[in-house]
Amino acid sequence: MEITVAEVTRIDHRIANAKRESRNKHRGGVLWFTGLSGAGKSTLAFALEERLFEDGFQVYVLDGDNLRTGLSSDLGFSPTDRTENIRRAGEVAALFADAGLVCIAAFISPYRVDRNIARRAAGLGFHEIYIRADVETCERRDPKGLYKKARAGEIPNFTAIGDVYEEPVSPSLIVDTTASSVDQSLALLTEYVAANFA
Ligand code: ADX
Repeated sequence: MEITVAEVTRIDHRIANAKRESRNKHRGGVLWFTGLSGAGKSTLAFALEERLFEDGFQVYVLDGDNLRTGLSSDLGFSPTDRTENIRRAGEVAALFADAGLVCIAAFISPYRVDRNIARRAAGLGFHEIYIRADVETCERRDPKGLYKKARAGEIPNFTAIGDVYEEPVSPSLIVDTTASSVDQSLALLTEYVAANFA
């Protein structure tokens, strides 16, 4: 017999969040990095993970490219598939945060409505961080050669070429990677974490 969601009851954990916080010596939460392909999300996410780990944080990166080889390996880049990808990522990020970690989620997440669903999944501990670089800069960087392919018509719905990117309306933090070096961006991010997770 199939079990429907209506027949499922949530079970509470016996470990209160405050207990996890006091053991970890910091809050859990989600740093949601959004921005164009090539803006620097993954670079900054993994650099920040390393820095926070060295500083004693429980921290883990959920990265779009990595998730798409596993949990979201059945999904492509149609609007429906991106929505489902971000729904899954948002739920997993919220679980990591609930487990007490600082979860750095790095996804293009081009649609506002999807980012808001991820925000709702994590609740108050959700921080939208806009890793900003204009499309011309990203296209010049083109670290994976995907812009070139998109311009050649080989990737029809590539973000900012054949599909939209909806900028965050009021992000918690903007990191402009056209104006700041990796080290400067990292300094901004670590400052933000110290102010919001300590
Ligand atoms: S999202 O739109 O669903 O948030 P996600 O962050 O998981 O995207 O994955 C983005 C990565 O997939 C990019 O860094 C790029 O390497 C790759 N990719 C492949 N096809 C596309 C596409 N059509 N648009 C954007 N990124 C793509």
